[in-house]
Amino acid sequence: MAHTDAHPFAGRAALADSRDPAGAPTRSVPFLRPTTTEAGVAAVAAAARAGLTKAGGPATRRCERLLRAHHDVDTVVMTHSCTGALELSALLLGIGEGDEVIMPSFAFASSANAFVLRGATPVFVDVQADTMNIDPAAVRAALTPRTRALVVVHYAGVAAAMDELLAIARDAGIALVEDAAQALGSSHRGRPLGSLGTLGTISFDATKNLSSGTGGALLVNDPAFAAEAELLRDYGTDRARFARGEIARYRWVQAGSNLAMNELAAAYLAPQLEHLERITQRRRRIWRRYHDAFAEAERAGLVRRPVVPETCEDNAHIYALTTPTAEGRTRLLHELAADGVEAAFHYVPLHSAPAGRRHGRVHGSMRNTDEGSARLLRLPLWDDMPAAAVEQVIAAVLARLAFPSRPAAVPG
Ligand SMILES: Cc1ncc(COP(=O)(O)O)c(C=O)c1O
Repeated sequence: MAHTDAHPFAGRAALADSRDPAGAPTRSVPFLRPTTTEAGVAAVAAAARAGLTKAGGPATRRCERLLRAHHDVDTVVMTHSCTGALELSALLLGIGEGDEVIMPSFAFASSANAFVLRGATPVFVDVQADTMNIDPAAVRAALTPRTRALVVVHYAGVAAAMDELLAIARDAGIALVEDAAQALGSSHRGRPLGSLGTLGTISFDATKNLSSGTGGALLVNDPAFAAEAELLRDYGTDRARFARGEIARYRWVQAGSNLAMNELAAAYLAPQLEHLERITQRRRRIWRRYHDAFAEAERAGLVRRPVVPETCEDNAHIYALTTPTAEGRTRLLHELAADGVEAAFHYVPLHSAPAGRRHGRVHGSMRNTDEGSARLLRLPLWDDMPAAAVEQVIAAVLARLAFPSRPAAVPG
């Protein structure tokens, strides 16, 4: 069945029953519900019945075809996760002991792990206060003769300052890896995110706009890495060429790993990829409703709304408000939970986490990272979120923001 605007799973329970402090039943709004389609569920059952479960099968090839067309790139390699795609990137780039990789500290552990596992040092730099994306000026200041790569995270699916960042990487002669884990469906100056850097990585984790449970993809934008990407993913063997009938048997060619996507996950994912635009549009409508609803609160200095630069069309992955103070964020988080609205903070900055302190180093001020991370609050947002749930979230936030003890203005 096609994934139509009337969601195929429209009947599923989107809101959970709960009770208010007085014991009266209320409906609570979860933070997210993973995206799904009936076509995907049916495809998994069909593949399982047909025994089409071997990695690199027709569903994986279909996902790769759809992503190649979407990103207009020649080589896409499906992986078991975005973490796997990032690790593949580090292997492809030959990152090793003594190398430095510049990256934002406001990022997920995987962005750093991939390079730390190769013996490199992550050099954490600050983000821009408005987008929470890596600051080009901070990147430039952190370059050393040992810098081998720059990792750019497109936070919330909003494009980082790619014009400047691409120029910095080009001038320094280093690779740029786009961690586009959250950014499928977004673009920068009309070009899909993930297709601008040397390599790009996508996540299909349950929390992302499209989900295969766990899953990922590597976009190989530099053709020099195309052949090796497949080899490294498939145990260091040329199994993908064998599967395509290009060679009579496959062999161990070089050191590699098993980073491939599960074929059943690919079967589940492919129908979502086919309806990427429609799924993205639905999320954008919810995002826009939030944005309009909080305009007044922003004018009153009670919160700051997300910023999407003109160069970017975003995929509405996250709707996050920034509160004037860290205490205000924590209070609002708890108040919304009491109201049955599950909001969330985001990354604890990597530079301040135990492994970040052990393996990485900081260059420059981390003011925006520290402040933004402490004041950011993500609201519930998922594919088929009912309008009533969206309005419930808006009403709860506005009621709490109007609380008389509110701080006066949003700094920064
Ligand atoms: C920016 C970023 N990079 C990488 C990852 C890791 O992705 P995966 O869970 O697919 O391994 C995530 C989170 O899931 C993320 O948010």
